[in-house]
Amino acid sequence: MKVMSVVGARPNFMKVAPIISAINEQNRMAQELHRARNGNAGGDHVFIGHFLVHTGQHYDRMMSDAFFRDLSLKPPDAELNVGSGSHAVQTAGIMKRFEEVLLREKPDVLLVVGDVNSTLACALVAAKISYDSAGTRPLIAHVEAGLRSFDRSMPEEVNRVLTDQLADLLFVTERSALRNLAREGVPAEKVHFVGNTMIDSLLSCVERADNSSVLDSLGLRRKAAANGAANSVVHYALLTLHRPSNVDNSEAFLNILEGLSALTCECPVIFPAHPRTRARIREFALDRFFEDSEDPRAPATCSGARGARSIRIIGPLGYLDFLCLMKHAELVVTDSGGIQEETTCVNVPCVTVRENTERPVTVESGTNVIAGTAKETIAAAIRRQLSFRNGHSQPEKWDGQAARRVVEVLARAHRYGGLMAHDPSMPDRVEHPTLRARLASAS
Ligand code: UD1
Repeated sequence: MKVMSVVGARPNFMKVAPIISAINEQNRMAQELHRARNGNAGGDHVFIGHFLVHTGQHYDRMMSDAFFRDLSLKPPDAELNVGSGSHAVQTAGIMKRFEEVLLREKPDVLLVVGDVNSTLACALVAAKISYDSAGTRPLIAHVEAGLRSFDRSMPEEVNRVLTDQLADLLFVTERSALRNLAREGVPAEKVHFVGNTMIDSLLSCVERADNSSVLDSLGLRRKAAANGAANSVVHYALLTLHRPSNVDNSEAFLNILEGLSALTCECPVIFPAHPRTRARIREFALDRFFEDSEDPRAPATCSGARGARSIRIIGPLGYLDFLCLMKHAELVVTDSGGIQEETTCVNVPCVTVRENTERPVTVESGTNVIAGTAKETIAAAIRRQLSFRNGHSQPEKWDGQAARRVVEVLARAHRYGGLMAHDPSMPDRVEHPTLRARLASAS
């Protein structure tokens, strides 16, 4: 079986990396079984070939390359180099270039993750492709399916809804997604509650992240005490903002920065800024809120004392450096989707500067608060979260095994030549005629 997966933007890399590892593990077991049977056919394990496509939606060294290094991701087998543009230009550019790769490689399964433009563009191409006159096309698998903010003004929401409509296999991270997909009429047999592959990456890297020197280079570590006690970390908060609705409008952005004064009075605020955000700060002349440093690793001037006034802006960070900063932060303020989940996993309080979340499990688990985007509600949420005391529960199946479950379902789909419900004891099986035809002609 041949699986093609797609990465494009920063949050995709950590969702795909553990799936590639799980495929490698599956192949290792298949190899052992094959050897044990003295080369005779049969057995429960299938070999899975893997082909990685990078659309180039994100292309900067720190938005892309650093993640390949930190996650030990193999280099992409194909790069589409699409770059930035309007939604239409970017989506169309990916589609045109991706179609050629799909027709050349003809995978059995196309695996897309998350909700970025690359996700929808590639799913849409696969849904309409014909490998042959019989209309054979790949199975479309969507990892992180079913999340809904119910806000169609978010480009990501449009990408999610449409990708889920196109997908044959939908892998979900939390129970709210099961309900959303059922409400939209997606047959239960297509849906598999596997957990969160991004959390697989986090759990496998969280200890290694402590080797990062980012706390030292930002001056966030207290000097060793005279009695030789271990270094401790100063209290600081971590901020990320990049959502167009928050940073592309000067009034909205100003409002958020004013709401953050509840935080800057308490502790240093470290802000690894997305390129879009940095450009808007310049454009809207909001520099007065920031203490700038173009060099992300330049020594910090923030002392950690109460009374710090400006936000310490640095460049985008790699995965391990960001993880290190996140797990040691007193509080994280963000408008990202993934960071709401990552803070839940490491039990750090999070204030989400949005009107809604598509990840309600992060609120139910107790670490995340949806603050809205008015300065008063942001300030109130920050005050509440600064007094957060551990009372959180780890979401179901966020146990580091999600990618293994994804690969098991893919292998099962291959073995049975169709889509199996996630409970193997269930009798109903949804046939997938084009995949069956392909497998029949391949055997
Ligand atoms: C994209 C995703 C968003 C995700 C975010 C993570 C969509 C619709 N949005 O938003 O869901 O949370 O990635 O970062 O897919 N830029 C660079 N260098 C880069 C990439 C982008 O400078 O490597 C700048 C360009 O000016 C570009 C802008 O950032 O125009 C926006 O990039 P784009 O990929 O269009 O959207 P993001 O805001 O990054």
